[in-house]
Amino acid sequence: MGDAAFEYAVDFIHGLDDAPASALEGSLEAALALRGSPPEEGGSFDEAVAAFRSAAAGAYETCGPGYLAYIPGGGLFTSALAQFMTLTANRFPNLWEVAPGLTQIEQNVIRWLCDLFDFPSEARGILTTGGSMANLSAIVTARHVKLGEDFSDGTYYVSEQAHASVTKAAAIAGLPRRALRVVPVDPEFQMDAAALAEMIRVDRGSGLRPFLVVPSAGTTNTGAIDPLDDIAGIAADEGLWLHVDAAYGGFFQLTDRGRERFRGIERADSITLDPHKGMFLPYGTGSLIVRDGAALRDAHFVGAAYLQDRMPEAELPNLHEYSPELSRDHRGFRVWLPLVVHGVRAFREALDEKLDLTEHLYAALSETPGIETPLRPQLTVVPFRLAASDDDANRVFLARINASKRVVISSTTIGGRYLLRACIVSHRTHRDRIDEAIDIIRSAAAAG
Ligand SMILES: Cc1ncc(COP(=O)(O)O)c(C=O)c1O
Repeated sequence: MGDAAFEYAVDFIHGLDDAPASALEGSLEAALALRGSPPEEGGSFDEAVAAFRSAAAGAYETCGPGYLAYIPGGGLFTSALAQFMTLTANRFPNLWEVAPGLTQIEQNVIRWLCDLFDFPSEARGILTTGGSMANLSAIVTARHVKLGEDFSDGTYYVSEQAHASVTKAAAIAGLPRRALRVVPVDPEFQMDAAALAEMIRVDRGSGLRPFLVVPSAGTTNTGAIDPLDDIAGIAADEGLWLHVDAAYGGFFQLTDRGRERFRGIERADSITLDPHKGMFLPYGTGSLIVRDGAALRDAHFVGAAYLQDRMPEAELPNLHEYSPELSRDHRGFRVWLPLVVHGVRAFREALDEKLDLTEHLYAALSETPGIETPLRPQLTVVPFRLAASDDDANRVFLARINASKRVVISSTTIGGRYLLRACIVSHRTHRDRIDEAIDIIRSAAAAG
């Protein structure tokens, strides 16, 4: 069975360069044909693998070099191998004495993330399933520290470009809709810090308790980076918790350009970072780091009699005390193995390459007649559209580009305007595919 599964995996990886960027024809019908209950008696492993193979094939090629839609990740194979070993060993990671070695590996990852942002030794963190869950734990922690048990008069601040997971997390954390303040953005789609300061002042004057601001280090729509240092100053002056949503952009901190653009991020109380985006890991790994580790624990810890035998935190933490989860998979090795096998430099260079590719794509589209590029990229998103055309024409333009099956891009709407966006993150996307994308986009634009 292992051989069959491994053969699939190796074939899959070797086929990625030539695989269609999307293969959706008939995929819904094929998906519906998979409906069914499991058999009473066991059946063929090979048949089940074959069914998986075709189910996975009728899809966007999210691992391929042409995947430029949404926020790509790529799916590092070393991480998939780590996950295979991890799930086979099936250790329980959330009580340290049950698997101290694996808890330590997870701690190595967390410490490395904390060091990347100059967080102090008392900082702690958790590996989550993604950025949405990391944002949830951050907001619960901020609410707990700044507002206590009664939080009905709290207010929090996000830009109109914040990821929806932030307001969703706040709602799950019990904050009423009236607690939300949407701060306007400037023409670069960065949060207007002066407007933020004014909104806090007005709210405080009305007897409310402003407690949290969530700027982005790379918005999903356009890759905009909010003015982190200015916002950190306001948060410090006003006693607000500063949570930076760096789910998409955070790992660009490894590069000189990213570090420069994120100046002030090291002043955050907490940061969300998604290894399944900027570290190219397969989907399923996010993270949260918190400057004051005790605050993260205070916000999440609930004791239980059936856990009374657990060893108290000593050299290693009991990670369930820091997170909403008890039973879960060990998430450390799937981050750690790629780091030790490829080395940090490989990640830095790959991310630098993505920044270069973005500039190249932006320059090429900017000089193409008939295409408008309204924003200079701040990270690796290039928004564009057909100039002097309406939204419907741009929808057709998008469909034409994606019909090439060599790239997949997605769209968004900002300020009522429909925009196409190409986002370059995957470790498998290189200059050859971006040059091809430029040709495809130019032909699609020339066609109308
Ligand atoms: C800026 C930002 N924050 C949060 C998220 C949510 O992360 P996840 O999809 O891992 O839950 C995303 C996802 O694209 C994002 O781009």
